[in-house]
Order: sequence, then C-alpha cells, then structure tokens
Amino acid sequence: MRRAFSLLPVLWLTCSAWAQLPNQPGSFRFAVIGDSGTGGRSQYEVGARLADMQKKFPFQTVVMLGDNIYGGQTPKDFQKKFEWPYVGLLNSGVKFYASLGNHDSDAQQSYKLFNMGRRRYYSFTPQEGVHFFALDSNRVDQAQLAWLEEELAKSGGDWKIVYMHHPLYSSGGRHGSSLALRKALEPLLVKYGVAMALAGHDHFYERITPQMGICHFVIGGSAKVRVGDCLGSELTAKSFDRDNSFALMEINGDTLHFQAISRTGKVVDEGSFQRPPVPERVTSTASKAAR
Ligand SMILES: [Fe+2]
Repeated sequence: MRRAFSLLPVLWLTCSAWAQLPNQPGSFRFAVIGDSGTGGRSQYEVGARLADMQKKFPFQTVVMLGDNIYGGQTPKDFQKKFEWPYVGLLNSGVKFYASLGNHDSDAQQSYKLFNMGRRRYYSFTPQEGVHFFALDSNRVDQAQLAWLEEELAKSGGDWKIVYMHHPLYSSGGRHGSSLALRKALEPLLVKYGVAMALAGHDHFYERITPQMGICHFVIGGSAKVRVGDCLGSELTAKSFDRDNSFALMEINGDTLHFQAISRTGKVVDEGSFQRPPVPERVTSTASKAAR
C-alpha cells in the first residue's frame, strides 16, 4: 500500500529575524544539535542562541546526535564542552538526551546530564504520543536490532522518531550516506511507521527528500562546519553548509513543524510534514502487548 506523506511548501527566509514556529499551547517542542562537543567559540555561540530562543519557544528537550564530547572525556571536558556552553538551557531545566558518535566514549552512558540511563541505546517518551529511539550507530548488532523492533512494535500509534550519529542518507563529500546502516535499519523503520530519522556526522545541515515515507535530516554542524561539503544530490531537499546550525521542532497533533537556524539566528530552512499512517500490524501488535 502506498503510504500518504505530504511535505508542505518550504520557505527560504533571508531575513535575520527569527520567525516563530506555530508555538501552539499543548504541542511538544524540542531542539536538535549534532556534533556539538568541541568546547570552541562556535559551540558557545550556538548554546547562547538556543537559550535565547528557548525563552520564546519553551522547549524542555534537546536531542544530541553524537560527537557530544570531542577529544578528552574528563569531568573538566564535560564542563567545558557541555555544561558551560549550554548553561542557559540547563538552568532552565532543559533535559538533554544523547546518542553516541564515533568520537564519544562509552562512559558517556553514565553521565547524568545525557539521560542515557547507562545504556548505549534507549527509548523515551517525553510527552504522551511522542516516542524517541536513540540508537548507537557505531555498533548495530543483532541485540540492538531486536531491541529496536520490540520497542517500535510496542509504541503503537505514537509519533516515532529515531536518531543516531551516522546518517542513512547524506550528500556529504566527507562521509555521505551510511549504506550498511541503511540496509540494517531502514526495513524496520518502514515496517513500523517511523516518521523521521535524525543524524549528524557530516558537519552541515541537510534535509533529505523523504525516502520510503520517512523524513531524514542531517544536523551535524552545531559546533563544527565543513563549508561547501554538502555536495547536493537528488537526495537534497534543502541544505546549509555556510555556518553552524541546529534545529527547532514542534509536534502539534499529526503535524511536525521544523526550522533549521544558523549560529547567527537566521532561519535557513523551515516547513512541516504530516505523520505517516501507522501500519495496521503495529496497532494490532501494540494492543496485544497492552492486554
Ligand atoms: Fe562523527
């Protein structure tokens, strides 16, 4: 059966003023950062921008797409490369949920402010009806795949969002698409009606034309940027590789709104899409599990 999936027209804004998302009462708001843990000036500038926007767009959740702490991983590094750059958000009670990148030590699973619960992959539901799955794309073994299938099956009609470090689709010259990962994961994501997949690794922003009914984003430029590395391809719906960036997202009923924003506060992409229909096998599996 062909799955309905629509992507509303996307605006490219050249003004520097930040235009709010729908910002509706009762919706679920979150931010997305990737490849963030340098401890450098750009990371601090993005952190300050996020804190400023959180006052107007009060998200309480940030998902981290890996390479959370580059280089040393001592307590001092966690301060300099995480706690200090995001002090404004942390002081506002915002919770971060990390996934592991290739530069991250496994010890990050135990770092309290990453909320990983001592696991390298995990799921959480920050609001009823919204289900995140944080994967460890460094090691996708049979145990992780079996866990993911079980969790997806249980999630019923929730919005399903998976995130990880390595992208299934990317037009990056440096890294590009992770084809082995795509082969391992995509059938499960399609089977269980996952709406969106988020990844980093390539240091830029790219929104991919929906693939198999799933909207993919590369958001890997939240501290480093590889200028000119998003080569563009038939996969590319929109890209930005001129400066650092992050994303704000909002789920309001069956619609997800997104904005990609540069370090300087410029909206470089925005739009919305509808949740794909939940495959019938998922609703029947979930209701059996609930009995
Ligand atoms: Fe990476």
